[in-house]
Amino acid sequence: MGYVKWLGHAAFEIFLDGRTILIDPWITGNPKAACKIEEIKRADLILVTHDHGDHLGDAVKIARKTGAAFAGIYELANYMNNQGVRKAYGMNIGGSIKIKDIEVILVPAFHSAERGREVGYVIRGKEATIYHAGDTGLFYDIKLYADLYPVDIALVPIGGLYTMDPLQAAEFITLIKPKVAIPMHYGTFPPIDKDPKDFQKAVEDKGIGTKVVILKPGEKYEF
Ligand code: NI
Ligand code: MN
Repeated sequence: MGYVKWLGHAAFEIFLDGRTILIDPWITGNPKAACKIEEIKRADLILVTHDHGDHLGDAVKIARKTGAAFAGIYELANYMNNQGVRKAYGMNIGGSIKIKDIEVILVPAFHSAERGREVGYVIRGKEATIYHAGDTGLFYDIKLYADLYPVDIALVPIGGLYTMDPLQAAEFITLIKPKVAIPMHYGTFPPIDKDPKDFQKAVEDKGIGTKVVILKPGEKYEF
């Protein structure tokens, strides 16, 4: 059985087909971190949506410690290689890579970044297809990818200011039509305090059959 565990903010631990994947592992300095970095003992793959501090976070440290591989936008992969990460796969938008039977597809996001550009990830395993939107505003093109790769679980930002807010995120969900939507990137600090119930209600009002699962940091959604 697999799971998606929220580590707080945009950080998730995903257990899929027996592999542990960390996304945007910002633990140190994250007011809502669900664990300490010392508690992270295992990771097979680390994914980072963009190089802002609240996403790149402890990625290098954890990759060095666990020997996890990295996959992401080309310029950020170069940086990870230079930091002594065991194996960093450089990719670009639309690119896909298979790492130990899990397919990772780099998809667009609309935000900003220093190295390369901002992205989202579609992660396809036997047990589930999971989409992490990264930091993004509302954009339409995700529909093309969601049509090609039907999404079971979508992780979407709702905190506003730097990303979509609950209303925009609910509209975004209508383009993806996942089975489950999990809100993230809210409540970490006051400027992005939003009520996830507003997102839940807005999605329910769309009548598309997507279930919104609100996690607390440290909680898991099992699939
Ligand atoms: Ni950002
Ligand atoms: Mn962010």
